[in-house]
Amino acid sequence: MTQAADLLDPAERLDLDGLRALQLERLRNSLRHAYENVPFYRESFDQAGVHPDDCRSLSDLSRFPFTTKADLRANYPYGMFAVPQERIRRLHASSGTTGRPTVVGYTENDLSMWADMVARSLRAAGARPGDIAHIAYGYGLFTGGLGAHYGAERLGCTVIPASGGMTSRQVTLIQDLKPSVIMVTPSYMLTLLDEFERQGVDPRSTSLRVGVFGAEPWTQDMRREIEERFAIDAVDIYGLSEVIGPGVAQECVETKDGLHVWEDHFFPEVVDPITGEVLPEGEQGELVFTSLTKEAMPIVRYRTRDLTRLLPGTARVFRRMEKVTGRSDDMVILRGVNLFPTQIEEIVLRTPGVAPHFQLRLTTSGRMDALTVRAEARADADAATREAAARSIVQAVKDGIGVSVEAEIVDPESLERSVGKIRRIVDLRERRG
Ligand code: DLL
Repeated sequence: MTQAADLLDPAERLDLDGLRALQLERLRNSLRHAYENVPFYRESFDQAGVHPDDCRSLSDLSRFPFTTKADLRANYPYGMFAVPQERIRRLHASSGTTGRPTVVGYTENDLSMWADMVARSLRAAGARPGDIAHIAYGYGLFTGGLGAHYGAERLGCTVIPASGGMTSRQVTLIQDLKPSVIMVTPSYMLTLLDEFERQGVDPRSTSLRVGVFGAEPWTQDMRREIEERFAIDAVDIYGLSEVIGPGVAQECVETKDGLHVWEDHFFPEVVDPITGEVLPEGEQGELVFTSLTKEAMPIVRYRTRDLTRLLPGTARVFRRMEKVTGRSDDMVILRGVNLFPTQIEEIVLRTPGVAPHFQLRLTTSGRMDALTVRAEARADADAATREAAARSIVQAVKDGIGVSVEAEIVDPESLERSVGKIRRIVDLRERRG
């Protein structure tokens, strides 16, 4: 362990055997809690011919059925809750842009565990009691703002609840209140970068020391860009509303080698996205979570659609998940080739003359789908640099991903900026009947 042991909480100090024993005990309780209190789980376990008592080892979990987003939607709004409404202290909800929203609920203990996990995440990120934390994740039904907020307070930080938006004021607040920690989506951090520069403030001159970035995929190249431009450490935080919100997994600042899953509360599996088969450690697939301690809304084998792989622990005893490549929903299939926005991000960030702002535009060309990478020129890039950049992106996509795309280098500040989660794909394809 590279962090002073007295900074770790008791679960972080367990050895592997201790951790597995704790997980099994909690898993059995959680399966029982779900089965006894949520009709959906009773039916789905019964249908699959399994009972909570059948779970005698952690690997027995694979005999239990999956839960999907569609199941949560079908039970909207309160059907997945395992406790009476009076015990629910808070609700959050997904935006519902792709259909019915999903609602999640928390008991008092759930909120406390969540705050503990975000506090643990912040500590792993390098934050300490007494730090000033600027939170620019959106506050509201989205779990980012309030989740980060109570975790930072739990750690003992002074919290600036900035929320998202009002970008010029964010810069003023950072200048005046001198936070050392910022929590925000990586794409909105880039919007803040532009604003610093617009105001003539050197982004490397701020009081910020560490950024805790998540809620959307981002690459190692983006990490380098942010770290260099702001002179901070940039670490990854992962989570999803259905499991708790931010604070399911966190990268440690001393290793920056993937995110330690706080698996004393959230048990991870990686499965083959098509067959559902559990994959061995190290293999890439879809991440699946089972909650071990949640009261209001226990979740069993939830299919996140996030693609990653599990790796052994390093800075902590807990297993790591590799930085998420993308969601299966964001995968573009272009003439038979699978492509993720993160792959384009890596290419764009390595292309000279191009700013870290890009968009993927899908159109129909004859009977085929076509993809145009639209990336912004850096302010100092002349016409020749821009042309070379476009050619270089096309070539890098062809060589690295194996498919032909077009590239367009657009004027600085012409692409839409993020204030939260960025939308990378603009789908203008004609619908075929
Ligand atoms: O985005 C919770 C969160 C807030 C995490 C703030 C981190 C920081 P949802 O809105 O339910 O919750 O979206 C969850 O966002 O399934 C992933 O696809 C994506 N996601 C979240 N964190 C990361 C990350 C919040 N670090 C969905 N890397 C998840 C890649 C991420 N994708």
